[in-house]
Amino acid sequence: MAGLDALVVGQVCRDLVLLVDEVPGPSRTASVRRRRELLGGKGANQAVGLAQLGVRPGLLGVVGEDEVGDRLLGQARSDGIDVAPVLRRADTPSALIVDVVDAQAHWRYLEDIPEATLLTEADVAGAAEALTAARAVLVQLQQPLPAALAAARCARTADRLVVLDGAPGDPAGGTELLALADVLRADAREAGLIVGDPPADPEAGLRAGRKLLARGPSLAAVEVAGEGNAFVWPDGEVFVPLSDTPTVDTTGAGDAFVAALTVGLLRGEPYEQVARYAVAAAGATVGHAGGRPALTPEAIDAQLARLPAA
Ligand SMILES: Nc1ncnc2c1ncn2[C@@H]1O[C@H](COP(=O)(O)OP(=O)(O)O)[C@@H](O)[C@H]1O
Ligand SMILES: [Mg+2]
Repeated sequence: MAGLDALVVGQVCRDLVLLVDEVPGPSRTASVRRRRELLGGKGANQAVGLAQLGVRPGLLGVVGEDEVGDRLLGQARSDGIDVAPVLRRADTPSALIVDVVDAQAHWRYLEDIPEATLLTEADVAGAAEALTAARAVLVQLQQPLPAALAAARCARTADRLVVLDGAPGDPAGGTELLALADVLRADAREAGLIVGDPPADPEAGLRAGRKLLARGPSLAAVEVAGEGNAFVWPDGEVFVPLSDTPTVDTTGAGDAFVAALTVGLLRGEPYEQVARYAVAAAGATVGHAGGRPALTPEAIDAQLARLPAA
């Protein structure tokens, strides 16, 4: 566990991505144009993104003791992820997400995420060493609240950079979670769950960011659907529009975004630069099908060049 830069607490699953021209109606058939089978799940995607951006990630999640679990861990290892904290659970299949994407880039997810593949509070308690060894801990709020809270508490106590992605399921636990966070990143829907309404325009995104900031974090990043992302910190804010990259599938762009945000912060870059880097990583992910990021320096540079000048 020594030398880890970031530990990601979140989902690991098998991703089956199917590109079709059109999703068939009932009693209809569609040919699949392209199939990709990937290591997926938000936790794994974020860890892959971190590794691609040059930091050493670990992963805390759950897979089954099945062949799929073996394959997922093998892939994660070859991606440069420390999988020692990943739990293998007997008597459960590993999680599966089928991502069906049509020619208009509309996705539909079919999720088989058995309860036993979610993290428990006890799982997190057992991983205290990994949680305190890394400089940053990324917690995905799609995990059950007690597990997310336990991870954030443990990381905070050890004075680690605590990065949250998503929205807490219940408002009471959410208050403590936000107070424990250094960074909160929410897509438009998730931001709506916390502040009341999904932001409809850049000004509303910045307003939502300021509301989130008041609840604990020192950096809030809020998506405004179809427009871009608002970033707010105690003495500044910026709205970064989307790049003009043609979208094939937005899946995983949020995960790439979170990975890049974390890497920028670990490097001690100014918030404004971190913001552009995060949006560049998202933009570098929307042009391909499936959630797995492909964050090469060339891809990031090409995206930065497409963003309006700072
Ligand atoms: N063309 C684009 N350029 C830059 N960022 C984009 C573009 N299209 C979408 N994004 C960003 O990608 C992110 C998608 O986030 P999210 O819905 O959380 O994805 P996921 O949960 O599947 O990883 C949002 O922050 C959105 O603004
Ligand atoms: Mg997301």
